[in-house]
Amino acid sequence: QRPAILIARAVFPEVVARLREHFEVETNEQDAPFTPAQLIERLQGKVGVMTTGSERIDAALLAACPQLRVAANIAVGYNNFDVPAMTAAGVLATNTPDVLTETTADFGFALLMATARRICESEHFLRAGQWNRWALDMFAGAEVHGSTLGILGMGRIGQAIARRGAHGFGMNVIYHNRSRLDTGSEAACRARYVSKAELLQQADHLVLVVPYSAESHHTIGAAELAQMKPTATLVNIARGGIVDDAALAVALREKRIAAAGLDVFEGEPKVHPDLLTVPNVVLTPHIASATLPTRLAMANLAADNLIAYLGTGQALTPLNPSVQAGQGR
Ligand code: GLV
Ligand code: GLV
Repeated sequence: QRPAILIARAVFPEVVARLREHFEVETNEQDAPFTPAQLIERLQGKVGVMTTGSERIDAALLAACPQLRVAANIAVGYNNFDVPAMTAAGVLATNTPDVLTETTADFGFALLMATARRICESEHFLRAGQWNRWALDMFAGAEVHGSTLGILGMGRIGQAIARRGAHGFGMNVIYHNRSRLDTGSEAACRARYVSKAELLQQADHLVLVVPYSAESHHTIGAAELAQMKPTATLVNIARGGIVDDAALAVALREKRIAAAGLDVFEGEPKVHPDLLTVPNVVLTPHIASATLPTRLAMANLAADNLIAYLGTGQALTPLNPSVQAGQGR
């Protein structure tokens, strides 16, 4: 009897086929997210699960699924995992770093540019038949090249965005992070470490790339927005909940900052209704890593983690490697 796994959401057929070479595989062809109770039910008898951000792996689930040994998230972010609870239960957690770094940085830059240069707002205007004549200051946006790019969260993706800004657009790059980069890494992305207050005050464009946790909840709220330049652009490609969406909608409406580009939202797929009515915000449905090659690479890495851990006891990108060192179920 081969080990049984659950693929919690629809993934590419070639990835399912690879997993079927190793496991008894249950899929979710409808692709409707499971409720916590449904997920527990589906996981009975399963040793592995491939998850996305819509599945929560917490202490209650772990207690109810005693056979589960590994959860492989198809995402670099893993705030849907209670990693300490998984470690305590001896369940391995894995994510998909690296394979999405450059693609996600591309999108961060695309969202920055669309927001700063008012691409979506002006496109709506044109589509609505409102373009009757040209005007010198029509949709005049913010300068991107040569401006100051602020990055909050200087992990792999933050550094990839910094490189684009510094080398491609001649931007002055400043960043804040829990820990400062080594000087070699700072030099590679031509980024200067500043305090959070300096970052907020000096950035012309502020990109958020911090992981979500209880500590990063509402990292950007009314008080932080008030410190930013009235001409500034804010871009969030990290996680919903890093920004206080209600406070941001107020700041945008009152033009306390110029514009925002958001790929992630508190409580997504619901979007705060006030954000839907302000014009100076670009809204996208959590697609920063969404190119076909990258989404395929993410699903394949999650599959490789399941195959490797359940086959050899060593995953490729474990989040709690102590579980591999004999602490596992
Ligand atoms: C997407 O948001 C991810 O964390 O990969
Ligand atoms: C996050 O883990 C990143 O790659 O920036």
